[in-house]
Amino acid sequence: MKQKLKKEIICVVGARPNFTKIAPIIAAMRAHGENIKPYLLHTGQHYDEAMKASFFEQLGIPEPDIDLEVGSASHAIQTADVMKKFEPVLDERKPAAILVVGDVNSTIACALVAVKKNIPVIHVEAGLRSYDRAMPEEINRVLTDQVSDLLFTTEKSALNNLLREGIDQKRVIFVGNVMIDTLFKNLENAVPMAQTLAKIEGAEGIPEKAFALITMHRPSNVDDKSTLASLIGTLSELSNQLPMIFPVHPRTKGKIEQFGLMDEIRKSHILLLPPLGYLHLLGLMKNAKLVLTDSGGIQEETTALGIPCITLRENTERPITVSEGTNTIVGSDSTKIKAAFHDVMTTGGNIGRTPELWDGNAAVRIVKYLDEWTRSE
Ligand code: UD1
Repeated sequence: MKQKLKKEIICVVGARPNFTKIAPIIAAMRAHGENIKPYLLHTGQHYDEAMKASFFEQLGIPEPDIDLEVGSASHAIQTADVMKKFEPVLDERKPAAILVVGDVNSTIACALVAVKKNIPVIHVEAGLRSYDRAMPEEINRVLTDQVSDLLFTTEKSALNNLLREGIDQKRVIFVGNVMIDTLFKNLENAVPMAQTLAKIEGAEGIPEKAFALITMHRPSNVDDKSTLASLIGTLSELSNQLPMIFPVHPRTKGKIEQFGLMDEIRKSHILLLPPLGYLHLLGLMKNAKLVLTDSGGIQEETTALGIPCITLRENTERPITVSEGTNTIVGSDSTKIKAAFHDVMTTGGNIGRTPELWDGNAAVRIVKYLDEWTRSE
Protein backbone atom coordinates (compact mmCIF):
# COMPACT_ATOMS: atom_id res chain seq x y z
CA MET A 1 0.00 0.00 0.00
CA LYS A 2 1.31 3.45 -0.84
CA GLN A 3 1.97 5.54 2.27
CA LYS A 4 0.27 8.92 2.30
CA LEU A 5 2.76 11.80 2.48
CA LYS A 6 2.40 14.18 5.42
CA LYS A 7 1.98 17.86 4.64
CA GLU A 8 4.89 20.05 5.67
CA ILE A 9 4.29 23.17 7.77
CA ILE A 10 7.23 25.51 8.21
CA CYS A 11 7.21 26.68 11.84
CA VAL A 12 9.04 29.98 12.25
CA VAL A 13 10.90 31.24 15.32
CA GLY A 14 13.16 34.26 15.65
CA ALA A 15 13.34 35.77 19.09
CA ARG A 16 13.26 34.63 22.69
CA PRO A 17 9.49 34.91 23.28
CA ASN A 18 8.87 32.75 20.19
CA PHE A 19 10.71 29.77 21.63
CA THR A 20 8.30 29.25 24.52
CA LYS A 21 5.38 29.36 22.08
CA ILE A 22 6.75 27.02 19.42
CA ALA A 23 7.91 24.30 21.86
CA PRO A 24 4.46 22.81 22.62
CA ILE A 25 3.33 23.22 19.00
CA ILE A 26 6.27 21.20 17.63
CA ALA A 27 5.75 18.58 20.36
CA ALA A 28 2.04 18.31 19.55
CA MET A 29 2.70 18.13 15.80
CA ARG A 30 5.10 15.26 16.38
CA ALA A 31 2.73 13.45 18.73
CA HIS A 32 -0.70 14.14 17.25
CA GLY A 33 -0.23 15.57 13.80
CA GLU A 34 -1.14 12.54 11.72
CA ASN A 35 -1.28 14.62 8.59
CA ILE A 36 1.37 17.21 9.45
CA LYS A 37 5.15 17.32 9.45
CA PRO A 38 6.83 20.33 11.13
CA TYR A 39 9.91 21.92 9.56
CA LEU A 40 11.52 24.25 12.10
CA LEU A 41 13.06 27.45 10.80
CA HIS A 42 15.00 29.84 13.03
CA THR A 43 15.58 33.26 11.51
CA GLY A 44 18.54 33.93 13.83
CA GLN A 45 17.08 37.23 15.15
CA HIS A 46 18.23 36.13 18.61
CA TYR A 47 21.50 34.22 18.53
CA ASP A 48 23.32 34.55 21.89
CA GLU A 49 23.66 31.42 23.99
CA ALA A 50 21.58 33.12 26.70
CA MET A 51 18.94 34.38 24.25
CA LYS A 52 18.62 31.22 22.14
CA ALA A 53 20.53 28.00 22.82
CA SER A 54 19.57 27.60 26.47
CA PHE A 55 15.89 27.90 25.50
CA PHE A 56 16.11 25.22 22.85
CA GLU A 57 17.84 22.90 25.28
CA GLN A 58 15.63 23.56 28.30
CA LEU A 59 12.36 23.40 26.37
CA GLY A 60 13.32 20.32 24.38
CA ILE A 61 12.93 22.12 21.05
CA PRO A 62 14.68 20.15 18.31
CA GLU A 63 17.61 21.81 16.54
CA PRO A 64 16.17 23.99 13.78
CA ASP A 65 16.08 22.37 10.34
CA ILE A 66 17.50 25.65 9.07
CA ASP A 67 18.92 28.83 10.65
CA LEU A 68 18.84 31.99 8.49
CA GLU A 69 21.38 33.68 10.80
CA VAL A 70 20.11 37.21 10.26
CA GLY A 71 21.26 38.59 13.65
CA SER A 72 20.70 42.13 14.95
CA ALA A 73 20.17 45.25 12.83
CA SER A 74 17.71 48.11 12.44
CA HIS A 75 14.06 47.10 12.01
CA ALA A 76 14.19 47.65 8.26
CA ILE A 77 17.40 45.73 7.69
CA GLN A 78 16.50 42.89 10.05
CA THR A 79 13.04 42.46 8.47
CA ALA A 80 14.43 42.71 4.95
CA ASP A 81 17.21 40.19 5.67
CA VAL A 82 14.69 37.65 6.97
CA MET A 83 12.51 38.18 3.89
CA LYS A 84 15.38 37.78 1.45
CA LYS A 85 16.64 34.63 3.10
CA PHE A 86 13.18 33.10 3.66
CA GLU A 87 12.00 33.29 0.06
CA PRO A 88 14.37 30.63 -1.35
CA VAL A 89 13.45 28.30 1.52
CA LEU A 90 9.78 28.50 0.47
CA ASP A 91 10.75 27.89 -3.15
CA GLU A 92 12.68 24.81 -2.18
CA ARG A 93 10.37 23.30 0.47
CA LYS A 94 7.00 24.23 -1.08
CA PRO A 95 5.24 23.80 2.27
CA ALA A 96 1.48 23.35 2.72
CA ALA A 97 1.54 26.37 5.05
CA ILE A 98 3.76 28.39 7.34
CA LEU A 99 3.06 28.93 11.03
CA VAL A 100 4.24 32.06 12.84
CA VAL A 101 3.88 32.94 16.52
CA GLY A 102 3.72 36.22 18.42
CA ASP A 103 4.69 39.64 17.14
CA VAL A 104 8.42 39.99 16.53
CA ASN A 105 10.07 41.20 13.34
CA SER A 106 10.63 37.61 12.18
CA THR A 107 6.86 36.97 12.46
CA ILE A 108 5.79 39.67 10.01
CA ALA A 109 8.79 39.16 7.71
CA CYS A 110 8.02 35.48 7.07
CA ALA A 111 4.25 36.00 6.91
CA LEU A 112 4.66 38.66 4.24
CA VAL A 113 6.90 36.51 2.06
CA ALA A 114 4.58 33.50 2.29
CA VAL A 115 1.32 35.31 1.53
CA LYS A 116 2.76 36.78 -1.68
CA LYS A 117 3.58 33.26 -2.80
CA ASN A 118 0.03 32.11 -2.07
CA ILE A 119 1.22 29.94 0.78
CA PRO A 120 -1.28 29.93 3.66
CA VAL A 121 -0.16 31.71 6.83
CA ILE A 122 -1.18 30.47 10.28
CA HIS A 123 -0.79 32.97 13.12
CA VAL A 124 -0.67 31.77 16.71
CA GLU A 125 -1.41 34.50 19.32
CA ALA A 126 -3.44 36.55 16.85
CA GLY A 127 -5.65 39.55 17.57
CA LEU A 128 -3.83 41.08 20.54
CA ARG A 129 -3.80 44.87 20.36
CA SER A 130 -2.25 47.55 22.55
CA TYR A 131 -3.60 50.25 20.19
CA ASP A 132 -0.18 51.85 20.53
CA ARG A 133 1.42 52.22 17.12
CA ALA A 134 4.64 53.50 18.66
CA MET A 135 5.29 49.91 19.67
CA PRO A 136 7.02 47.99 16.87
CA GLU A 137 5.24 44.79 17.89
CA GLU A 138 1.83 46.44 17.36
CA ILE A 139 2.65 47.06 13.70
CA ASN A 140 3.82 43.44 13.40
CA ARG A 141 0.57 42.18 14.97
CA VAL A 142 -1.79 44.19 12.79
CA LEU A 143 -0.01 43.35 9.56
CA THR A 144 0.55 39.66 10.33
CA ASP A 145 -3.15 39.21 11.15
CA GLN A 146 -4.15 40.93 7.90
CA VAL A 147 -2.21 38.41 5.79
CA SER A 148 -3.05 35.31 7.84
CA ASP A 149 -5.45 32.57 6.73
CA LEU A 150 -5.93 31.03 10.15
CA LEU A 151 -5.79 33.08 13.33
CA PHE A 152 -5.51 31.27 16.66
CA THR A 153 -6.33 33.48 19.65
CA THR A 154 -5.38 33.31 23.34
CA GLU A 155 -8.22 35.37 24.79
CA LYS A 156 -11.73 36.16 23.60
CA SER A 157 -11.20 39.93 23.39
CA ALA A 158 -8.91 39.29 20.40
CA LEU A 159 -11.89 38.44 18.20
CA ASN A 160 -13.38 41.92 18.55
CA ASN A 161 -10.05 43.50 17.61
CA LEU A 162 -9.90 41.36 14.48
CA LEU A 163 -13.54 41.98 13.49
CA ARG A 164 -12.90 45.71 13.77
CA GLU A 165 -10.09 45.29 11.24
CA GLY A 166 -12.36 43.49 8.80
CA ILE A 167 -11.10 39.96 9.37
CA ASP A 168 -13.58 37.18 8.65
CA GLN A 169 -14.72 35.53 11.89
CA LYS A 170 -14.55 32.11 10.19
CA ARG A 171 -10.75 32.37 10.15
CA VAL A 172 -10.49 33.06 13.89
CA ILE A 173 -10.26 30.17 16.37
CA PHE A 174 -10.04 30.65 20.14
CA VAL A 175 -7.69 27.94 21.43
CA GLY A 176 -6.05 29.32 24.58
CA ASN A 177 -2.43 30.10 25.29
CA VAL A 178 0.47 27.95 24.08
CA MET A 179 2.92 29.84 26.29
CA ILE A 180 0.92 28.69 29.30
CA ASP A 181 1.16 25.11 27.97
CA THR A 182 4.93 25.54 28.30
CA LEU A 183 4.61 27.11 31.75
CA PHE A 184 2.51 24.31 33.22
CA LYS A 185 4.62 21.61 31.61
CA ASN A 186 7.84 23.01 33.05
CA LEU A 187 6.74 24.33 36.43
CA GLU A 188 8.09 21.33 38.31
CA ASN A 189 11.38 21.43 36.41
CA ALA A 190 12.09 25.07 37.26
CA VAL A 191 15.64 25.53 38.47
CA PRO A 192 15.57 26.18 42.23
CA MET A 193 16.21 29.80 43.06
CA ALA A 194 19.12 28.92 45.38
CA GLN A 195 20.86 27.17 42.49
CA THR A 196 20.47 30.16 40.14
CA LEU A 197 21.79 32.54 42.78
CA ALA A 198 24.60 30.33 44.09
CA LYS A 199 28.00 31.92 43.57
CA ILE A 200 26.42 35.26 42.62
CA GLU A 201 27.98 37.99 44.69
CA GLY A 202 25.38 39.92 46.67
CA ALA A 203 22.71 37.21 46.36
CA GLU A 204 23.26 35.78 49.82
CA GLY A 205 20.32 36.31 52.11
CA ILE A 206 17.62 36.93 49.48
CA PRO A 207 14.86 34.62 50.73
CA GLU A 208 12.04 33.11 48.67
CA LYS A 209 8.88 35.23 48.48
CA ALA A 210 10.75 38.26 49.80
CA PHE A 211 12.11 39.82 46.63
CA ALA A 212 10.85 41.47 43.46
CA LEU A 213 11.81 40.25 40.01
CA ILE A 214 12.46 42.93 37.37
CA THR A 215 12.60 42.48 33.59
CA MET A 216 12.81 45.47 31.27
CA HIS A 217 13.81 45.76 27.63
CA ARG A 218 11.20 47.79 25.69
CA PRO A 219 12.78 50.55 23.59
CA SER A 220 10.21 52.99 25.06
CA ASN A 221 11.63 52.33 28.56
CA VAL A 222 15.31 51.76 27.95
CA ASP A 223 16.35 53.74 24.86
CA ASP A 224 15.60 57.19 26.31
CA LYS A 225 18.05 58.41 28.94
CA SER A 226 15.65 60.35 31.18
CA THR A 227 13.01 57.57 31.14
CA LEU A 228 15.52 54.86 32.00
CA ALA A 229 17.19 57.04 34.65
CA SER A 230 13.83 57.74 36.28
CA LEU A 231 12.86 54.04 36.22
CA ILE A 232 16.19 52.97 37.71
CA GLY A 233 15.89 55.73 40.34
CA THR A 234 12.40 54.56 41.35
CA LEU A 235 13.36 50.89 41.44
CA SER A 236 16.54 51.65 43.43
CA GLU A 237 14.48 53.51 46.00
CA LEU A 238 11.91 50.72 46.28
CA SER A 239 14.68 48.13 46.60
CA ASN A 240 15.31 49.51 50.11
CA GLN A 241 11.94 47.99 51.06
CA LEU A 242 12.23 44.78 49.05
CA PRO A 243 15.40 43.46 47.42
CA MET A 244 15.16 43.10 43.65
CA ILE A 245 16.64 40.68 41.12
CA PHE A 246 17.06 41.97 37.58
CA PRO A 247 18.22 39.65 34.76
CA VAL A 248 19.27 42.14 32.11
CA HIS A 249 18.48 41.89 28.40
CA PRO A 250 21.51 42.82 26.21
CA ARG A 251 19.75 45.93 24.87
CA THR A 252 19.08 47.19 28.42
CA LYS A 253 22.59 46.42 29.65
CA GLY A 254 24.04 48.45 26.80
CA LYS A 255 21.82 51.43 27.62
CA ILE A 256 22.49 51.28 31.38
CA GLU A 257 26.21 51.46 30.62
CA GLN A 258 25.84 54.12 27.93
CA PHE A 259 23.78 56.39 30.22
CA GLY A 260 26.12 55.91 33.21
CA LEU A 261 23.47 54.32 35.45
CA MET A 262 25.49 51.33 36.61
CA ASP A 263 26.81 53.05 39.74
CA GLU A 264 23.34 53.86 41.01
CA ILE A 265 22.32 50.22 40.59
CA ARG A 266 25.44 48.99 42.37
CA LYS A 267 24.61 51.19 45.36
CA SER A 268 21.00 49.90 45.53
CA HIS A 269 19.56 46.55 46.55
CA ILE A 270 19.03 45.57 42.92
CA LEU A 271 20.99 42.48 41.95
CA LEU A 272 21.88 42.34 38.26
CA LEU A 273 22.08 38.97 36.50
CA PRO A 274 22.79 38.08 32.88
CA PRO A 275 19.77 37.01 30.76
CA LEU A 276 18.50 33.71 32.16
CA GLY A 277 17.34 30.50 30.56
CA TYR A 278 13.62 29.69 30.72
CA LEU A 279 13.81 27.27 33.66
CA HIS A 280 16.06 29.63 35.62
CA LEU A 281 13.71 32.58 35.15
CA LEU A 282 10.72 30.41 36.02
CA GLY A 283 12.40 29.38 39.28
CA LEU A 284 12.73 33.06 40.22
CA MET A 285 9.29 34.10 38.96
CA LYS A 286 7.36 31.50 40.91
CA ASN A 287 9.20 32.47 44.09
CA ALA A 288 8.91 36.25 43.70
CA LYS A 289 6.67 38.35 45.93
CA LEU A 290 5.96 40.49 42.92
CA VAL A 291 7.20 41.10 39.39
CA LEU A 292 7.92 44.43 37.72
CA THR A 293 8.11 44.04 33.95
CA ASP A 294 7.57 45.51 30.50
CA SER A 295 7.41 42.07 28.85
CA GLY A 296 4.26 40.79 27.17
CA GLY A 297 4.67 37.14 28.07
CA ILE A 298 5.51 37.71 31.72
CA GLN A 299 2.20 39.55 32.23
CA GLU A 300 0.51 36.29 31.22
CA GLU A 301 2.82 33.95 33.09
CA THR A 302 2.37 35.85 36.38
CA THR A 303 -1.40 35.73 35.91
CA ALA A 304 -1.25 31.94 35.44
CA LEU A 305 0.98 31.65 38.52
CA GLY A 306 -1.09 34.03 40.69
CA ILE A 307 1.91 36.32 41.29
CA PRO A 308 1.25 40.10 41.40
CA CYS A 309 2.59 41.85 38.30
CA ILE A 310 3.26 45.58 37.95
CA THR A 311 3.58 46.39 34.26
CA LEU A 312 5.94 49.24 33.36
CA ARG A 313 4.01 50.17 30.23
CA GLU A 314 1.22 52.61 29.42
CA ASN A 315 -1.02 49.88 27.97
CA THR A 316 -1.30 46.17 27.41
CA GLU A 317 -2.34 44.05 24.44
CA ARG A 318 -3.28 41.32 26.95
CA PRO A 319 -6.26 42.88 28.79
CA ILE A 320 -7.39 39.62 30.37
CA THR A 321 -4.32 39.76 32.63
CA VAL A 322 -5.82 42.92 34.15
CA SER A 323 -9.53 42.02 34.12
CA GLU A 324 -9.07 38.47 35.40
CA GLY A 325 -5.43 38.14 36.39
CA THR A 326 -2.85 39.73 38.66
CA ASN A 327 -1.67 42.56 36.42
CA THR A 328 -1.64 46.31 37.15
CA ILE A 329 -0.60 48.71 34.38
CA VAL A 330 1.41 51.66 35.67
CA GLY A 331 3.66 52.93 32.85
CA SER A 332 6.96 54.57 33.73
CA ASP A 333 5.56 57.20 36.12
CA SER A 334 7.35 57.03 39.45
CA THR A 335 4.29 57.91 41.58
CA LYS A 336 2.16 55.22 39.95
CA ILE A 337 4.87 52.58 40.28
CA LYS A 338 5.30 53.37 43.97
CA ALA A 339 1.52 53.29 44.59
CA ALA A 340 1.13 49.88 42.92
CA PHE A 341 4.18 48.57 44.78
CA HIS A 342 2.81 49.83 48.10
CA ASP A 343 -0.53 48.19 47.34
CA VAL A 344 1.08 44.79 46.80
CA MET A 345 3.27 45.18 49.89
CA THR A 346 0.30 46.01 52.12
CA THR A 347 -2.55 43.92 50.65
CA GLY A 348 -0.63 41.13 48.91
CA GLY A 349 -2.05 42.25 45.56
CA ASN A 350 -4.67 40.69 43.36
CA ILE A 351 -4.66 36.88 43.26
CA GLY A 352 -6.83 36.75 40.12
CA ARG A 353 -7.76 33.55 38.34
CA THR A 354 -6.50 31.58 35.38
CA PRO A 355 -8.24 32.65 32.17
CA GLU A 356 -10.42 30.36 30.07
CA LEU A 357 -8.54 27.69 28.08
CA TRP A 358 -5.18 28.52 29.67
CA ASP A 359 -5.13 24.89 30.64
CA GLY A 360 -1.96 23.42 29.13
CA ASN A 361 -3.70 22.01 26.04
CA ALA A 362 -3.75 24.90 23.58
CA ALA A 363 -1.12 23.38 21.26
CA VAL A 364 -2.99 20.08 21.06
CA ARG A 365 -6.16 21.97 20.09
CA ILE A 366 -4.23 23.86 17.40
CA VAL A 367 -2.74 20.70 15.93
CA LYS A 368 -6.10 18.91 15.94
CA TYR A 369 -7.58 21.80 14.02
CA LEU A 370 -4.65 21.93 11.57
CA ASP A 371 -4.84 18.19 10.94
CA GLU A 372 -8.42 18.53 9.76
CA TRP A 373 -7.69 21.74 7.91
CA THR A 374 -4.84 20.20 5.89
CA ARG A 375 -7.11 17.29 4.93
CA SER A 376 -9.75 19.70 3.65
CA GLU A 377 -7.27 21.85 1.67
C1 UD1 B 1 12.74 41.47 20.35
C2 UD1 B 1 11.28 41.68 19.96
C3 UD1 B 1 10.46 41.94 21.22
C4 UD1 B 1 10.67 40.87 22.26
C5 UD1 B 1 12.15 40.75 22.55
C6 UD1 B 1 12.43 39.68 23.58
C7 UD1 B 1 10.94 42.78 17.76
C8 UD1 B 1 10.50 44.04 17.12
N1 UD1 B 1 11.11 42.86 19.10
O1 UD1 B 1 13.23 42.70 20.87
O2 UD1 B 1 9.08 41.96 20.87
O3 UD1 B 1 9.97 41.20 23.44
O4 UD1 B 1 12.82 40.43 21.32
O5 UD1 B 1 13.76 39.59 23.91
O6 UD1 B 1 11.13 41.80 17.10
N2 UD1 B 1 20.97 41.21 21.13
C9 UD1 B 1 22.03 40.45 21.56
N3 UD1 B 1 21.96 39.09 21.41
C10 UD1 B 1 20.88 38.47 20.87
C11 UD1 B 1 19.81 39.27 20.41
C12 UD1 B 1 19.86 40.63 20.57
O7 UD1 B 1 23.01 40.96 22.07
O8 UD1 B 1 20.87 37.23 20.77
C13 UD1 B 1 21.03 42.68 21.32
C14 UD1 B 1 21.59 43.38 20.12
O9 UD1 B 1 22.35 44.44 20.57
C15 UD1 B 1 20.34 43.92 19.43
C16 UD1 B 1 19.40 44.17 20.59
O10 UD1 B 1 19.71 43.16 21.55
O11 UD1 B 1 20.58 45.05 18.68
C17 UD1 B 1 17.96 44.09 20.21
O12 UD1 B 1 17.64 42.83 19.60
P1 UD1 B 1 16.36 42.72 18.62
O13 UD1 B 1 16.12 41.33 18.22
O14 UD1 B 1 16.49 43.73 17.52
O15 UD1 B 1 15.16 43.23 19.49
P2 UD1 B 1 14.78 42.97 21.01
O16 UD1 B 1 14.92 44.26 21.75
O17 UD1 B 1 15.48 41.77 21.57
